Amino acid sequence: MAADLQNSVKQLSDSGAFSSLPLQLYASRDPTAPSDVDATLEPQIPTIDLSLLTGATPRERARMVQRLGRACQDWGFFMARTFRVVVNHGVPEGLRQAMLEAAKKFFDLEEEDKAELRGETVLDPIRYGTSFNPKAEVGVRYWRDFLKLAVHPDFHSPAKPLSFSDVLRDYATCTRRVGMELLKGIWESLELEENDMNKALKLDSCFQVFVANLYPPCPQPELVFGLPPHSDHGLLTLLHQNGVDGLNVEHGGKWVHVKPLPGSFLVNAGDHMQIVTNGRYKSALHRAMANGKSTRVSVLTVVGPSLDTVVEPVAALVSSERPAMYRGWSYRQFLEYQQGNQLKEKAVLELLR
Ligand code: SIN
Ligand code: FE2
Repeated sequence: MAADLQNSVKQLSDSGAFSSLPLQLYASRDPTAPSDVDATLEPQIPTIDLSLLTGATPRERARMVQRLGRACQDWGFFMARTFRVVVNHGVPEGLRQAMLEAAKKFFDLEEEDKAELRGETVLDPIRYGTSFNPKAEVGVRYWRDFLKLAVHPDFHSPAKPLSFSDVLRDYATCTRRVGMELLKGIWESLELEENDMNKALKLDSCFQVFVANLYPPCPQPELVFGLPPHSDHGLLTLLHQNGVDGLNVEHGGKWVHVKPLPGSFLVNAGDHMQIVTNGRYKSALHRAMANGKSTRVSVLTVVGPSLDTVVEPVAALVSSERPAMYRGWSYRQFLEYQQGNQLKEKAVLELLR
């Protein structure tokens, strides 16, 4: 098969018709570079017990809120899990699995069915594609196919596969609820009023995006990124995967391999968290690595402010010693700017300074 920009990565991988990658399209890593992953850091990744944020005594909650604040300050990343069974809380394991299976089934659809959903712009409510931004990415493609869906305030889903939209609706609702609980805790960790959070971010109409990622086995994983180092645009991202690892997070200038605790969500702070907290909490740089053996599926939800609210550093965190680091922009403007550029570290945040 002649590889070109029209092929999904899955198609390329399934065809097996190449022994090495079409380098002109994919070369984005130096295969001779030594590993930059620091294995000693993995056990230090912070963990948050969601059941102690909601179904706990005020003392337990205060401890968890403090821990959440430290995780956001030191890492911008943590694993969140319900360690204790709490009724009506979190995301049931069955639903997490059903979402992964539905995502896998979506990617297994015929290419023609998926191709109808190919979108051009970040704000298309339903967008299937390969790599982040084909227009800006000539020569630096990534080893990933994706499906992105806007699920709140308006809900969008592909019609196929059957039952995808039912599973997605429940999954979006549950993950949004967990996201909101985490945001409340994070806000509290900065000693800010909950009312101010709603004023600053208009969370009733929060913009929530669902993303499913497929990373098929890659013949030369040392040459490519599934996704290159970047931070996410929203406030928080909650991710889980099908048991195949591949996520790395940056911490203190080093890369940390992430092996999730069973049943956990990997949560990272996004650029809007960094903006609204005036840099107190930082968005986490992360990347996804390809592998040569197994198909990796990850599903994630990004919870962000309302699309048209101008987000700027919250007044309580701005002072003469710490002036506002970012100017206000709406989330929509932020996403539109990102669309015109390569996926690259924290490029859009830098522009707002
Ligand atoms: C992402 O950063 O959007 C996905 C990362 C992953 O698949 O682990
Ligand atoms: Fe990401």
